[in-house]
Amino acid sequence: MDGNGSYGFDTLVIHAGQSAKEWQGGTLAPIFQSASHLHATAENLSQTFAGMTSDHIYMRLTNPTNRILEEKLTALEGGQGAVVMSSGMAAIANACLALLRTGDEFVTGNSLFMSTYQLFTKVFVKYGITARLVESTDTGAIEGAINEKTRFVYLETIGNPKMDIPDLKRAAEVAHGHGVPLIVDNTLATPYLCRPFELGADVVVHSTTKYLSGHGQAVGGVVIDRGRFDWSQKRFPDFKPFIDRKGPLAYLDKVWREHHINFGTTQSPFHAYLTMLGLDTLAVRMERHVTNALRVAQYIRERPEVRWVNYPGLEIHPSHATGLKEFKGKGFGGMVAFGLKDEESCFRFINHLKLIYHLANLGDCKTLVIHPYSSQYVSFDETTKRSLSITPDLIRLSTGIEGAEDICRDLGQALDKVK
Ligand SMILES: Cc1ncc(COP(=O)(O)O)c(C=O)c1O
Repeated sequence: MDGNGSYGFDTLVIHAGQSAKEWQGGTLAPIFQSASHLHATAENLSQTFAGMTSDHIYMRLTNPTNRILEEKLTALEGGQGAVVMSSGMAAIANACLALLRTGDEFVTGNSLFMSTYQLFTKVFVKYGITARLVESTDTGAIEGAINEKTRFVYLETIGNPKMDIPDLKRAAEVAHGHGVPLIVDNTLATPYLCRPFELGADVVVHSTTKYLSGHGQAVGGVVIDRGRFDWSQKRFPDFKPFIDRKGPLAYLDKVWREHHINFGTTQSPFHAYLTMLGLDTLAVRMERHVTNALRVAQYIRERPEVRWVNYPGLEIHPSHATGLKEFKGKGFGGMVAFGLKDEESCFRFINHLKLIYHLANLGDCKTLVIHPYSSQYVSFDETTKRSLSITPDLIRLSTGIEGAEDICRDLGQALDKVK
């Protein structure tokens, strides 16, 4: 791509990382389906293992197709480097573990995606790591939970399915005031709505399975490094060799070298290719997702069967003002949560949908619904479900990009069947 980053987001999303000259004139990134790569000399392979060249060695370490996706995602978030991984959860686990040792703590917002919640509260504890959960939107509580053992603060741009929006700028100031970085899961907002680095975040993670790929066609994740955090502070003594090797990208090197390649959380290049196909249309899809979500929220709010609607785009929503500021007026995302009378009403509603898909995913161009209480969270205890706002009356809707009136009509006819 010509130019020096002066293109707007809608252009960048299509052209960043494109290199038709190197692809024999092809305009789509080729799929390099090769487990290993040839090296002309013994010296070259040795230098590459030592990190002195950017050549490829073996697919678990790096892959040329994946690298193109990494360049695109780095450009979209405005970071300095990225590593794509096998799933969003792989990215989250590696992003956190690169910073954690036994005895360490971190502070996290309490409106976490289900598997992230499990990882933080059920898996990390087995290794002597403590997650301190606080209200995501309460910056004072975030600050209050930071102590000398804290290694980072972790937040999601939009809570799922709580739909709360933390003040990332203030959270970053608080984290930095205590010498710790801020990691943000930007999956639900995407860089179309929010670029957490511009608000002070240090690391961004995504499940690329959702809006970035956009068609329910690929699973993947990414860790993106802003490359600005000072890892030489005394809180991070284990960073020395990574700083010596990679300077400002010490963190990304640690994520990659210590965790990604040893855990084998490799993304298949075919999934990277599919993700790039989807990524081309991210800007236009997001534009439609957010307008459709607002229309749906306004429509169901008027329906007598719907007891409550939780969508930050509604002016009465407690996170509306933060969303307006952080998302620069571009909308409030595609996810809408709402309540019917009870679990039985939710089942009746879902069972009568004709157009809308009932499945466990989000961020697809098709509209999707799920009853989280009886599905993803079915094995959670009641207290935990309540703390995560998972109630029996909750329906979570991921608004797609179909015609808004068709979505509303399908919702309406299914609501007609609900008592
Ligand atoms: C906000 C968020 N983060 C992370 C994930 C995990 O992503 P993946 O399923 O790609 O592992 C999800 C999945 O739904 C999610 O919603």
